[in-house]
Amino acid sequence: MLGIVEQPTSQNVLLIGATGQVGKSLLPFLQTKYQVAVLMRPKTFQENPDKVKALEDAKVVVRQGDLTDEESLVAALKGITVVVSCAPIPGISLQFTLIKAMKRVGHIKRFVPSDFGSDVRIEPDFVPSFREKLELHQALFESGIPYTIIDNGPWMVFGAGKFGNPLNPDFSLSPQEIRFMGSGDSPIITQTLEDNSRLTAEIVADDRTINKRVMVDVNVTSQKQLVESWVRVGGPRPTIGEPITEEEVMKLIEQATDPRVNFGLRIMRNVHFHDGLKRTDDYLSTTELYPEVTKQCLTVEQYYAKILSDLRKQSA
Ligand SMILES: NC(=O)c1ccc[n+]([C@@H]2O[C@H](COP(=O)([O-])OP(=O)(O)OC[C@H]3O[C@@H](n4cnc5c(N)ncnc54)[C@H](OP(=O)(O)O)[C@@H]3O)[C@@H](O)[C@H]2O)c1
Repeated sequence: MLGIVEQPTSQNVLLIGATGQVGKSLLPFLQTKYQVAVLMRPKTFQENPDKVKALEDAKVVVRQGDLTDEESLVAALKGITVVVSCAPIPGISLQFTLIKAMKRVGHIKRFVPSDFGSDVRIEPDFVPSFREKLELHQALFESGIPYTIIDNGPWMVFGAGKFGNPLNPDFSLSPQEIRFMGSGDSPIITQTLEDNSRLTAEIVADDRTINKRVMVDVNVTSQKQLVESWVRVGGPRPTIGEPITEEEVMKLIEQATDPRVNFGLRIMRNVHFHDGLKRTDDYLSTTELYPEVTKQCLTVEQYYAKILSDLRKQSA
């Protein structure tokens, strides 16, 4: 069984959602610290030999199981001490079954539920999945299973792209008019998916983060500061139009039939009008916990410098 022992003697991780966006990126970073097994749905296992091969090539043990099936989870948890879930948004509530299974086996030393977003205590009924994540946290606290809640804000492409406002035009070499959502001063926390994974692996391996909330906060900025970062690396200074009001955003949300656009607008309304990414005192900060690892992460200015360089190449 490729290194995963039947009875836990050291830290063995079960990663859930290893074929998804967040889980796939996290897997190699977890593997630098742990023996990792992954949970795969039987249907996915049967119908996607390419996914199975990719995982086996990465030297992980593939255990079949489904978040909807408690018995399969109990079996998959054999020898496991740490569970990291990257379940998708529609699967957040399925993690209640996982909590039951972890209680039954009794040897889980840490559970990281699928969060990786904003503080879900702010406007839980406005942004899809926030209420479900919040209720799962409550069940987890009551279960007594040690946990770590990890949040991170939007990935850089969304958090720093278009100066943090999805309604702005794409970056350009010509000066353009942009607008802030609200004052332009609300905090934005953002990093790349890869840097989120790099730091998540550190958090999972760190005893200081047991029973804590941790914010992956490589870049803490604002719409106004994003403009200054862009100008500092040589981008043309945009003119700033009238601020977009919360009422305007609400109207756009009502009109947005594409669920991804609708979700994105709700998140950005939460961030820009309700301080959705203001790190409260009960979050630990990865910048403070892991300063050396943070130095390896992409800054907003490096991200903007790359965009500028690509735009210049295209226009040459
Ligand atoms: N901060 C951000 O900007 C940001 C962006 C995206 C997501 N997120 C957060 O990250 C988390 C993960 O999202 P994601 O985008 O990575 O999801 P995703 O790409 O949809 O991946 C979901 C994974 O879960 C597996 N899965 C689905 N249903 C399952 C079940 N019943 N039992 C076992 N495994 C199951 C899927 O496996 P199959 O191969 O079987 O389908 C897949 O590996 C969410 O909490 C989301 O809110 C944050």
